[in-house]
Amino acid sequence: MSANITNMSKKTSTRGFETICVSDRLTSRTEHFSHVPPIHATSTFVYESAEKAMSVFQGKEEAYIYGRWHNPTFSVIEEKIALLESYGLGIETPQAVLFSSGMAAISSMFLSLGLKQGDAVLTQGNLYGTTTEMLNTILGLHGITILYENLKDLDRVGKLLKKNKSIKVIYIETPANPTLDCYDLQALSALAKQYGRLTAADNTFATPYLQQPLSHGIDFVVHSTTKFLNGHGNAIGGIVVGTDKEKMKQVWRMRKLLGGTPSPFDAFLLNNGIKTLVLRMEKHCDNAERVAEWLQAHPAVERVNYTGLPSHADHELAISQMRRFGGILSFELKGGVKAGIKLMNGVEHCVLTASLGTADTLIQHPASMTHVQVDKAQRLQFGITDGLVRLSVGIEDVEDIIADLELALAK
Ligand SMILES: Cc1ncc(COP(=O)(O)O)c(C=O)c1O
Repeated sequence: MSANITNMSKKTSTRGFETICVSDRLTSRTEHFSHVPPIHATSTFVYESAEKAMSVFQGKEEAYIYGRWHNPTFSVIEEKIALLESYGLGIETPQAVLFSSGMAAISSMFLSLGLKQGDAVLTQGNLYGTTTEMLNTILGLHGITILYENLKDLDRVGKLLKKNKSIKVIYIETPANPTLDCYDLQALSALAKQYGRLTAADNTFATPYLQQPLSHGIDFVVHSTTKFLNGHGNAIGGIVVGTDKEKMKQVWRMRKLLGGTPSPFDAFLLNNGIKTLVLRMEKHCDNAERVAEWLQAHPAVERVNYTGLPSHADHELAISQMRRFGGILSFELKGGVKAGIKLMNGVEHCVLTASLGTADTLIQHPASMTHVQVDKAQRLQFGITDGLVRLSVGIEDVEDIIADLELALAK
């Protein structure tokens, strides 16, 4: 039986990136030819004959079978994100598997690798907090070692790969949540290839519009589609994209076996949101650049993490692998954690909440919210300080965002 029937196009797309975002393939429109692909709210699919059913179940013919396995509403968005992640690369369209959340996508990707006791994962200490927690618990409890290292130290990464044969995969999140550090996708993927290891990258902050990990030879790209890809904060979702058909078949199998399947309604909302991805990302970047400059010049601010600032240590690296610098920044106030809390209580327009990538501006405190489960020593070692505040800059009039921060800082 085929892994999924979603990414059927064999040729690379000649359409533009924005055209792919807005266009839905004709076959998704059912016999009634609705303009917008319908929500296939069904748990199973029917056959016109017993012979057809047998043929489908025996893998001789492709057809939708059961809603935990696949659904035409998932196919629309899986194909779209696969095309966007491989846009302009001149490669065959990769496979993509949609999940019920970013965490379902990331954990299923890891579980699909068949890691065993004694194997190791090499990663950075400043991942999204729940990813760290998942690695430590789900993989850690099965005897898999998680090595949190400074992935910017390429010499050390090379030495580790050479010395430690148990490392099976390098997991990279760039830009990282919430420190915005960037990691060199090209160099890390080249090292992994040199030593025969796999790589996976979380591309949630950048989206395929700003960064394409596949172009640097990364094996798996994962996303929380809950964020910029959806863009409106109205559905949870995740996706894994990869070029190796056999490996992606195993990823799909994890959806089938573990059931991290999305709801068709959430997939529909994701497809709606992604149509405006480029317009939104451009405005997120415009606004974040302005807010970062303004914050950096403010006397109450100690440090701003935004790779768009020429003073940022990763500015040149970000230029080399990203189209623009993205919509997220973090900063530390001179007054530390107390001043950060005062700021978050003082804002009236910015919304105090944990997520990111929505049209409106969101503010949060990683140490006590999204990264509360991360070991404090690890958190501090990798720059997630007690006073760090994260801002997901929205697409409002930027003057209103700045005025809100200014008023809150003056309180
Ligand atoms: C970078 C990153 N990866 C993965 C996730 C997990 O995604 P989800 O909340 O959709 O499970 C998040 C959530 O904030 C995130 O910021």
